[in-house]
Amino acid sequence: MKFASPYCARNFAALKIIVAITGASGAIYTQRLLDNLPPAQHELHVVLSNYAHAVIAEELADGLRLPPGTKMHSLKSMNAPFASGSNAFDAMVVIPCSMGTLGRIAHGTSEDVLLRAADVMLKERRKLILVPRETPLNLVHVKNFELLLQAGATILPANPCFYTNPKTIEQVVDTVVARVLDHLGVPQKLMPRWQGEQE
Ligand SMILES: Cc1cc2nc3c(=O)[nH]c(=O)nc-3n(C[C@H](O)[C@H](O)[C@H](O)COP(=O)(O)O)c2cc1C
Repeated sequence: MKFASPYCARNFAALKIIVAITGASGAIYTQRLLDNLPPAQHELHVVLSNYAHAVIAEELADGLRLPPGTKMHSLKSMNAPFASGSNAFDAMVVIPCSMGTLGRIAHGTSEDVLLRAADVMLKERRKLILVPRETPLNLVHVKNFELLLQAGATILPANPCFYTNPKTIEQVVDTVVARVLDHLGVPQKLMPRWQGEQE
């Protein structure tokens, strides 16, 4: 048997999570992440870049479905709780993350609440998970990756895997979303865990 159960028998805490969405292709990654973050357990906050709206309109026929209780924030207001390091959030995920937003985070521009929140996560040494989607990469992208890794971010590219033999687009997408949930510390049963062959 090559795969183990995706469950881990541990106690998981309620988390305060910011989910940020940008204008990179892959709105379905956001949707599947939101679908797998139990809203009764976690405090979910969502913020969209200006271009995220255009990509969601292109890619999600029914628009973005938010779990009940999710708090949506305006990009241009700094009144969101996560705009200040004094309000400790556990994690922020930028999914999908455009190379534009990734570059702005790497350089600390903080000109809207999404970028400010990412800057706060880095300065407070909290979990910042970036899910970039771009190919091929240029040297600017790679240098920005390097800066962000040095600053403490996790770069988790939207690179699906196929060794689980996914049959649907959703199953392909879930191979990435499962890794995001793993890094958040949220239990997931989207993907079995690789065990390797019995020796
Ligand atoms: C349909 C569509 C798909 C796009 N896909 C990507 C992508 O995969 N990666 C990327 O970095 N930019 C992509 N872009 C370009 C970004 O939307 C653009 O660079 C924008 O300025 C990003 O702004 P934001 O970072 O504020 O969301 C796409 C644009 C459109 C309209």
